[in-house]
Amino acid sequence: MTSHLSIQGFGAYVPARRLSNADLERLVDTSDEWIVTRTGIRNRHVLADDESGADAGTIAARRALEAAGLAPEDITHVITATCTPDFLCPNTACLISANLGIHGPMAFDLSSACSGFVYGLETARGLVLAHPDAKILLVSTEALTRRINWKDRGTSVVFGDGAGATVVSACAEGKAPAGGALIEDVVCHADGGQWKLLTVGGGTKQRYEAGDPVDEAFYIHMEGREIYKNAVRTLTNVCHEIVERNGYTLDDIDVLVPHQANLRIIEAVGERLGMGEDRVFVNIQDYGNTSAASIPLALNDAWRAGVFKPGMLALLTTFGGGFTWGAALLRF
Ligand code: UT7
Repeated sequence: MTSHLSIQGFGAYVPARRLSNADLERLVDTSDEWIVTRTGIRNRHVLADDESGADAGTIAARRALEAAGLAPEDITHVITATCTPDFLCPNTACLISANLGIHGPMAFDLSSACSGFVYGLETARGLVLAHPDAKILLVSTEALTRRINWKDRGTSVVFGDGAGATVVSACAEGKAPAGGALIEDVVCHADGGQWKLLTVGGGTKQRYEAGDPVDEAFYIHMEGREIYKNAVRTLTNVCHEIVERNGYTLDDIDVLVPHQANLRIIEAVGERLGMGEDRVFVNIQDYGNTSAASIPLALNDAWRAGVFKPGMLALLTTFGGGFTWGAALLRF
């Protein structure tokens, strides 16, 4: 399929502080063995006390700009995908813009949980169609550990902090830019019918008086098993949808880059799609589930490891709270 939309420049950042499964054994009633066999996670990263999601996103963005050979003044729009913003207002995109010295361009946040990056690609595609000269900085950043109830072993072992970024712009038709890929297609879906299965508190639905202690509603609440079942089915279906609507078969896909939520989910989806581990990129062992940051962190790691060769077709797929889900096809 021909396309004149591209992503160019991969950048990522995870905080220096690393929390291993052994560290978690000292915090909650869990074990390295349980975490590894049930999730595949060995480490996750945690923001320093004086560090925020906007700070992490700023570093990832600088790295993406450098990789793309662009300066902050080249950027026309800033989109930040996050479900753990620094504030309800101002948006995190404004904070990242200010940190980068970008003054003037439209900057907004997109809250679609783990699907934030794929939703961001679709949003950026629309903006490039409206403004053909646009150079859109898409930053995914999450501070999930700021909403972890460290007494809840179902969530505390799963999530981590991190950020990933790239730039979306037009390019010559059918020609992937150096250091980037063509965006051949993006599919996004949502269904709020089961929103209660995964929530991150701190919004305005919950009423607090000044001085009230926070309660459980403030933290991440996840009904893991129900989400697991939905995730495997939905991720598989959306991969079929985007592959078929572009006239491909799954044999045409060189590498699957799935949202890194749980190694067992990734393996189950790979199996249903007939894609062995040689065609599925996994880095969950190092970061845990970083929600919107997970796919750009994976793209950055895969890119720097030389996974993507010219001409390769990559399939991204994601599922998260909302529910939101989606997929994208990238041609390197
Ligand atoms: O990012 C997108 C949205 N999120 C996801 O896609 C996450 C989807 N869900 C999952 O990844 C998994 O459901 C979890 C990793 C969250 C949980 O794994 P599970 O295999 O579904 O475990 P479970 O919740 O069904 O619990 C099984 C058992 C329970 O004990 P009993 O009732 O069988 O005695 C839990 O209490 O495992 C226990 N358990 C733990 N044990 C040790 C739950 N968490 C832990 C833990 N350590 N950390």
